[in-house]
Amino acid sequence: MPLPRSLSVTSLSGLDDWTEEFDLGDAVLFEIAWEVANKVGGIYTVIQTKARLTSEEWGENYFLVGPYMENSVRTQVELIEPTNPALKRTIDNMNSSGCKLYFGRWLIEGSPYVVLIDVGFTAWSLDRWKSELWENCGIGVPWFDREANDAVLFGFLTAWLLGEYAAQCEEPPHILAHFHEWLAGLGLVLCRQRQLPVATIFTTHATLLGRYLCAGSVDFYNNLHKFNVDKEAGDRQIYHRYCLERAAAHCAHVFTTVSHITAIEAEHLLKRKPDVVTPNGLNVKKFSASHEFQNLHAHSKARIQEFIRGHFYGHLDFNLDKSVFLFIAGRYEFSNKGADVFLEALARLNYLLRVNHSEVTVIAFFIMPARTNNFNIETLKGQAVRKQLWDTAQTVKEKFGKKLYESLLVGQLPDVSKMLDKEDFTMMKRAIFSAQRQCLPPICTHNMLDDSSDPILNCLRRIGLFNSSSDRVKVIFHPEFLSSTSPLLPMDYEEFVRGCHLGVFPSYYEPWGYTPAECTVMGIPSVSTNLSGFGCFMEEHIADPSAYGVYILDRRYRSVDESCSQLTSFLLQFCQQSRRQRIIQRNRTERLSDLLDWRYLGRYYISARHMALAKAFPESYYYEPQDPSSKKGFRYPRPASVPPSPALSRHSSPHHSDDNDDDDERYNEDLEAEKDRLNIRQPHSPQYRDKSGLT
Ligand code: UDP
Ligand code: G6P
Ligand code: GLC
Repeated sequence: MPLPRSLSVTSLSGLDDWTEEFDLGDAVLFEIAWEVANKVGGIYTVIQTKARLTSEEWGENYFLVGPYMENSVRTQVELIEPTNPALKRTIDNMNSSGCKLYFGRWLIEGSPYVVLIDVGFTAWSLDRWKSELWENCGIGVPWFDREANDAVLFGFLTAWLLGEYAAQCEEPPHILAHFHEWLAGLGLVLCRQRQLPVATIFTTHATLLGRYLCAGSVDFYNNLHKFNVDKEAGDRQIYHRYCLERAAAHCAHVFTTVSHITAIEAEHLLKRKPDVVTPNGLNVKKFSASHEFQNLHAHSKARIQEFIRGHFYGHLDFNLDKSVFLFIAGRYEFSNKGADVFLEALARLNYLLRVNHSEVTVIAFFIMPARTNNFNIETLKGQAVRKQLWDTAQTVKEKFGKKLYESLLVGQLPDVSKMLDKEDFTMMKRAIFSAQRQCLPPICTHNMLDDSSDPILNCLRRIGLFNSSSDRVKVIFHPEFLSSTSPLLPMDYEEFVRGCHLGVFPSYYEPWGYTPAECTVMGIPSVSTNLSGFGCFMEEHIADPSAYGVYILDRRYRSVDESCSQLTSFLLQFCQQSRRQRIIQRNRTERLSDLLDWRYLGRYYISARHMALAKAFPESYYYEPQDPSSKKGFRYPRPASVPPSPALSRHSSPHHSDDNDDDDERYNEDLEAEKDRLNIRQPHSPQYRDKSGLT
């Protein structure tokens, strides 16, 4: 029997303190999601990053439940025998009844236990379970919807797991089951329908209807209250999915979502107001040297530059040192993620940079997975040519160096004209010839399966951005998530983000939006919108977000064309900054990290769990809802440090030349000293109230 633990979370200095006394007793937490050890999008990031904090609270009583995906398990999970005897009996019983469950440790921070269910192995039960679902809940799932079939299998199997676990416990257990997103929601519905002793939480990270409606051409936010939800779901052939989602939201003891904007959407589309808003956090890494993240930027940028040298071989007629790297990344939802607005703004930016004869070149990366059959030859060739040029230069350098050394050894200055022979020149000429190119550098790094109908490619064709010499904006579309094992761009996503200058996420539909949040904690400025959970959260907590490198695009009160113009102006301003201004801005961005740390944001999940336990087991748990207005809030003031204007910033570093890295180093230090002097390392201002308290 685990020791009863009393929970308290003390926040980071600078943010408001929060403690909640609550004795968890013998409660056991199961957290269930399709993205446990299975990367799809941001839900994976929520579960994976939150695991450390949750493991710290729940210790041996915390189990994540997800689908068994062989590839992920091979690389991320250490399979072991279950440690908890009741859970061991549960898994053994299920496995001897025709299921396949695995138990292990997920090799991430916090090393949580995972139960992974091979849903395909129990597919023989699908028809039976579907009719049970129809008879008991009146939800009919059609045969052709593969995702919904998985949801049915996963739902019945997780409910079976929880029911069996309850039966295997010697004492009446206190089980808390937290389900994420509609794909996992059926397990919750079945727990309630079977009256299992389980306290339930349902967290939705989006609404199905919201995502679908926004992807069409609907004025979503102005019509939220008007949608005939059943009809809209039916028209889009997702009525059964919608029913699963809505049932989970209504059956849960506690219903939560990730932002206030999605809470309003859920209230209208799912017809239940979330009990708690649980904003998404991250595990913030702190370096011992506070400007280490700047060095990491420089290091990763150099690697991206190497890739660019290969990609643009034969057309390297721009100055890489004056190039700015922008990127958009995420699941490929063209208009929901704002790729349409980004492309339009890039076309306008290209025009403005050209007419202003700007020296800056913008390289815009699109990292959005699409259907492909591998890298294309031209792209691979680019890196091979670059490597060949590098090898040639190294060979010649070695020969040159040897002759020079020999000459110095005998006390003579070398005759430079004899240092290289004919053979060396032939080799160099051959290398130069092989680096000639008849075509423009490719836009896309892969062979696309749907090339002619791909929305990004079609838009580029329409706006005429083809990586030609005269373009000041170049585009690279990498239709696959990044990986450090890639033969083309061997960097993981984090390294890539660090090496870029600005993340651009002009989403129209974005319940939270991890991508700009990840930029922020790495000290990389980003653009998000006032229709994304993240953008609204930052707007609420920062007096002047853009001064901190958090640009928030207005997509709520402006037309698409106006939003494109606003984004163009953000991008142009950004391109006009000097290196020194970018360094200052990155320092400011990075200062916001604490705000996005689970150590601070985890409290909302903790409250939701306490609330659910108290609702489901009122005889054992008591929870006193906290008055949100009684909590001290915070708001980051306008930055008081050196403003990012060239004239003023030059005073703080008189010998600085814009392109000198040694000066940059000193400048970073100057800035740290400036922060200390102004005591703004952890800006806080208790007079402001935190509006993101419990709802
Ligand atoms: N991501 C990734 N590799 C990439 C691009 C993106 O792992 O090459 C991750 C990114 O780190 C982020 C997630 O994909 O955590 C996207 O989450 P977000 O909340 O922004 O959007 P979602 O896909 O959930 O709608
Ligand atoms: C960091 C490094 C500097 C480098 C700079 C480049 O601040 O510490 O040494 O010069 O990045 O910044 P940029 O915005 O031009 O990539
Ligand atoms: C969803 C949303 C995204 C959010 C993520 C994690 O996939 O699309 O905005 O960040 O879930 O909550």
